[in-house]
Amino acid sequence: MKALVIGSGGREHTLAWVLLQSPKITEVVCIPGNGGTANLPHCRNLALNPEDFEGIARFALVNNLELVVVGPEQPLALGITDFLQAQGLKVFGPCQAGAQIEASKAWAKALMMEAGIPTAQAEVFEEEATALAYLKTQKVPIVVKADGLAAGKGVMVAQTLEAASDAVSEIFSGKFGSAGSQVVIEEFMIGQEASVLAVTDGQTIRPLVPAQDHKAIGEGDTGPNTGGMGSYAPTPVVTPALMERIQTEVLEPAIATLRRRGIDYRGVLYAGLMITPQGDPKVVEFNCRFGDPETQAVLPLLETPLDQVILACIEGRLESLPPLEWKPGAAACVVLAAEGYPDAYPKGMEISGLTEAADTGALVFHAGTQAKGGIITANGGRVLGVTGLGDTFESAITNAYTAVDKIHFEGMYCRRDIGYRVKRR
Ligand code: AMP
Ligand code: GLY
Repeated sequence: MKALVIGSGGREHTLAWVLLQSPKITEVVCIPGNGGTANLPHCRNLALNPEDFEGIARFALVNNLELVVVGPEQPLALGITDFLQAQGLKVFGPCQAGAQIEASKAWAKALMMEAGIPTAQAEVFEEEATALAYLKTQKVPIVVKADGLAAGKGVMVAQTLEAASDAVSEIFSGKFGSAGSQVVIEEFMIGQEASVLAVTDGQTIRPLVPAQDHKAIGEGDTGPNTGGMGSYAPTPVVTPALMERIQTEVLEPAIATLRRRGIDYRGVLYAGLMITPQGDPKVVEFNCRFGDPETQAVLPLLETPLDQVILACIEGRLESLPPLEWKPGAAACVVLAAEGYPDAYPKGMEISGLTEAADTGALVFHAGTQAKGGIITANGGRVLGVTGLGDTFESAITNAYTAVDKIHFEGMYCRRDIGYRVKRR
């Protein structure tokens, strides 16, 4: 079987690599892919826009690419699944109606309320004046969110009411385009965050091993948020007992409520959770896709061929799939970023040491890179994600950094403390 992967990040390089580990997958095409997928054996890139649904459908049909795996949220929110399915393709990723769970925070909040899923108390506003008046009655810290997709930039955890008001005004000023037509103001939750990515066929839902990511740019989880500077799995923060509760209190009610709304959700449901100091799981957000960089730590641990899992979801037979099998031990992914990220950053720097890094046994996943004439250059804020595997977190983390230290490009930045919470385990 030949597969198509939509997207260009570290998550998509990982998906392509993991799919090609399966004996059943003979070829992967990435749209548009990156420098890593360009050089991966049995994989190639196609320079189409992930939003060019007609072009993608035509290419997939002519070339017998039966299976399509969608990485990012944007094409899902625009209805890529509905479009490609109508052409007879097998698509992993929810339909447009289901993708609202990520594409509208107000919609997701309403769904959680209906489903009785534990989450932060929230109010939704369509007008600046009412939002500002409401803020005056609230205590800090408080969280202000643009409703729609804002590339991870639409969330402000405000420490003062002035900062919260400024965030509200900024969102309504149109800075985030149509994502800012509504504002969600919610209770600040304390605790440790964890990411539970689950696969579903719309009836049955099964979690993958739990992960954590480091969102902040700086060591000790300080400074502005990024797309994610590192990740690790399986995090011990989510104990088996807690995973049971997440299954029955979060994942199953979400799928049941989607179904009640007539939404046949097939793909990944990603629950971003806050584990409160009391040990209770509360939902921070849902995403309609694999996490990045969680995927770079989670999927290399999956022993069951990924195509089997994906096809079981698409074909509505997840319940009869044998339990997912996992490699023992742990994985840690360290992201290498360009200088200046998450603000403006340069591109075009030549990257060296990639072969030496791979020779250590670590998995070097490309994110923002480009391949040209045998040279790999940086082409994005997050440039690479280096995953180390090991019997323990300590060895997985050491293995990741041993490989990282072989790689160089001008201005390269990475956090040196990925996995500090679990390092001694
Ligand atoms: P989101 O895009 O909703 O995941 O928010 C981005 C980040 O903001 C989350 O990963 C949290 O670190 C933080 N955050 C969002 N909502 C809350 C909340 N209600 N309480 C505490 N932190 C939050
Ligand atoms: N790592 C966070 C996300 O994928 O949304």
